[in-house]
Amino acid sequence: MPAARLTLRRPDDWHVHLRDGAMLKAVLPFTAQQFARAIVMPNLKPPVATAADAEAYRARILEALPAGARFTPLMTCYLTDATDADDLARGAASGVFTAAKLYPANATTNSAFGVTDIRRIDGVLARMAEIGLPLLIHGEVTDPDVDIFDREAVFLDQVLSPLLDRHPTLRVVLEHVTTKEAVDFVRAHAASGRIGATITAHHLFINRSHIFAGGIRPHLYCLPIAKREVHRRALVEAATSGEGPFFLGTDTAPHAVTAKETACGCAGCFTAPSAIELYAQAFEEAGALGKLEAFASLNGPRFYRLPLNEERIVLERVPSKVADVVLLAEGDGILPFKSGETLDWRLIRAE
Ligand code: NCD
Ligand code: ZN
Repeated sequence: MPAARLTLRRPDDWHVHLRDGAMLKAVLPFTAQQFARAIVMPNLKPPVATAADAEAYRARILEALPAGARFTPLMTCYLTDATDADDLARGAASGVFTAAKLYPANATTNSAFGVTDIRRIDGVLARMAEIGLPLLIHGEVTDPDVDIFDREAVFLDQVLSPLLDRHPTLRVVLEHVTTKEAVDFVRAHAASGRIGATITAHHLFINRSHIFAGGIRPHLYCLPIAKREVHRRALVEAATSGEGPFFLGTDTAPHAVTAKETACGCAGCFTAPSAIELYAQAFEEAGALGKLEAFASLNGPRFYRLPLNEERIVLERVPSKVADVVLLAEGDGILPFKSGETLDWRLIRAE
């Protein structure tokens, strides 16, 4: 009997870290092969903080694409205390900015230039609401006295709720949700149509115990950190619900092995090599393959008010091994999430 096949409208990745230089060259082909578009995170060093920065970065991404790739990078502005609302609005009008990203200062990798107090950028947020530019949020408080496993839930109450009240027409994506509280929060605001949430592939598979299974596993350390099993289940339920606010955003966040396997390792899971296969597996395990297309290919463009992709991809239900280490030019490598393990689905073509 021939293997089962699944044809989907070509998906988009609404949260990706492509990095720069040799790392960009190494990771971009994986994303570009599967996804038609991707929201590119701006947390480079230094950050992509102006329209000119974003234009230059977009050019470097296009330059790094493999020949024949059909992929559109959608650029974001890294908000800082000093963001110029006029520059942001010009970038939005010229089409270089699709959204702007809020990193609370020091919440995660390369966020040292992030916003120190959200009220400082209320003027910028008001302008974004006016021009319809979505705000993408890393939703964790940075107070070191708040337990790391509570930082997302506390953010919802302390920061996000008041922010939505202060800016009633601003459209917001709560990125890489990891808690039941976040899922409930998004649902509570769903009727407004102005809130979305991305869900990563790795958070559909791991809970916090996996990070310490038999020893410390630095490649499962990401931010927001994986939570208890009850939260993982809530994420699977939300992703597979088909509901409009929930869409695919891998948060694939490559770091060299030497930067992960060290006394103070970087946060980030590198899921790009098998992203769509990972989601297909998680959805099948939940008995919800029929909802994958809504999550991966329909809900995101609808939220961002962009056209649906017309191309299709085909997955086949055959065992497929996740890539081993992806080599970097300088002799280091990046270890994919579930490296060496076998998944049930394989992407056979994009057409
Ligand atoms: C991201 C990175 O490495 O840039 N890391 C991560 O754990 N997800 C930053 C981020 O999205 O928080
Ligand atoms: Zn991210």
